[in-house]
Amino acid sequence: KQRVLTGITTTGTPHLGNYVGAIRPAINASESADVQSFYFLADFHALIKCHDPALVHQSTREIAATWLALGLNTDNAIFYRQSDVPEIPELCWMLTCMAAKGLMNRAHAYKASVDANLAAGDDADFGITMGLYSYPILMAADILMFNANKVPVGKDQIQHIEMARDIAARFNHHYGEHFVLPEAVVDDNVAVLQGLDGRKMSKSYGNTIPLFLPEKQLKKSINKIVTNLLEPGQPKDADTSTVFQIWQAFATPQQTADMRQAFAEGIAWGEAKKQLFELINAQVGEAREKYEALLANPAHIEEILQAGAEKARAHSKPFLEKVRAAVGIKKIQ
Ligand code: TYM
Repeated sequence: KQRVLTGITTTGTPHLGNYVGAIRPAINASESADVQSFYFLADFHALIKCHDPALVHQSTREIAATWLALGLNTDNAIFYRQSDVPEIPELCWMLTCMAAKGLMNRAHAYKASVDANLAAGDDADFGITMGLYSYPILMAADILMFNANKVPVGKDQIQHIEMARDIAARFNHHYGEHFVLPEAVVDDNVAVLQGLDGRKMSKSYGNTIPLFLPEKQLKKSINKIVTNLLEPGQPKDADTSTVFQIWQAFATPQQTADMRQAFAEGIAWGEAKKQLFELINAQVGEAREKYEALLANPAHIEEILQAGAEKARAHSKPFLEKVRAAVGIKKIQ
């Protein structure tokens, strides 16, 4: 069986980008009988970016409720919280001791922080924690722990999967074949979903459209997508439009072709946004109600996560024993 694995960092409310980049492909994959899937809440990763305990906790609840509301079948998929699997941070340490520092120096997230510091006239490493620096190694541990073949992610995470492969290859070369080399799975239609301002939709840019906004607010939010000043009747360029890009992530190929035509014919921005709202609302409306009900029942969510952690540990405990033995950590005999 193929193993599919992905995680979401618990630092905010899930948005359309998380949905189309990771959650939707992951749930689809988990419905195939040839796939064993592992989906998790990356709460250790959250500490890298967010030092607000209430936010991390609330986000964990929201992201868990999101997966469940969207119909993740936890009989097929193993659904857990990263911090409930203590083998992950232990594996992370072993990988840290095999990961090249030079590889980490090249990580986009770290480099972006350095560049921002230098641009602001600060010290290169100002405010950068070791957590941020070693972030790709923790992510490698998440993936390699379950020997995942496929990792559905948005384009922004591809580099991290490549690093996981590098680290795994190095470990395998030295200690023997323990890890499968994982591959990123990226949906080209939605590689990077744009946010309200046209940049990548991201919690850190504050430009997201949360997936389960109440209907009225969803409409309002979609209306805030930045557009150019073209009037109704003036032809619009679909390929540079955020409205069109988001449309494409939710529409059928036929609907996308029709919207492209409507753009060429000069559809008014207000009309295009209204149709976009209707398209998304029709797809998330039912799940939104389930989401609200789940949030009102946190004990139920916790129960599901505990059951998931148990299943995850049925894999991680024996596997880590082998890895420990491989590096020479075992009972004296
Ligand atoms: P995170 O929490 O930033 O994002 C979760 C997933 O959503 C995707 N995504 C997007 N996809 C398309 N367009 C966007 N605008 C957009 N924004 C976010 C991300 O690519 C990601 O797939 N480090 C990871 C979480 C993680 C993980 C892992 C993922 C931890 N361990 C192991 C896979 C495997 C992160 O911060 O994702």
